[in-house]
Amino acid sequence: MWIKALDQAPKEGTMAALEVEGRKIFVTLNNGQLYCAENRCPHEEIELTLGCLKGNSVVCSLHGFSFDLATGNSSEEGVDNMLTFPIKQKNNKIYIEV
Ligand code: FES
Repeated sequence: MWIKALDQAPKEGTMAALEVEGRKIFVTLNNGQLYCAENRCPHEEIELTLGCLKGNSVVCSLHGFSFDLATGNSSEEGVDNMLTFPIKQKNNKIYIEV
């Protein structure tokens, strides 16, 4: 089920942390593309929005592992992938499917 998450896209290169349906997520606009993922590092569960964007990945602030925004793939062998969610924009509003 698609749920409205934001009234507009975040600014390019920033991450918006929010809670939808009891789940902590973040939405980001990176190189003109929208992404949505769980705001929890699969390694030790710190919020990924404390980190930064680099290339097409989010880099965790604690140990520096990175996770691909599109696929959720982890840069570190043995570390789970980040959970990602479908996202779309309609009439400027941002919808996600969690
Ligand atoms: S807690 Fe995120 S890389 Fe270790």
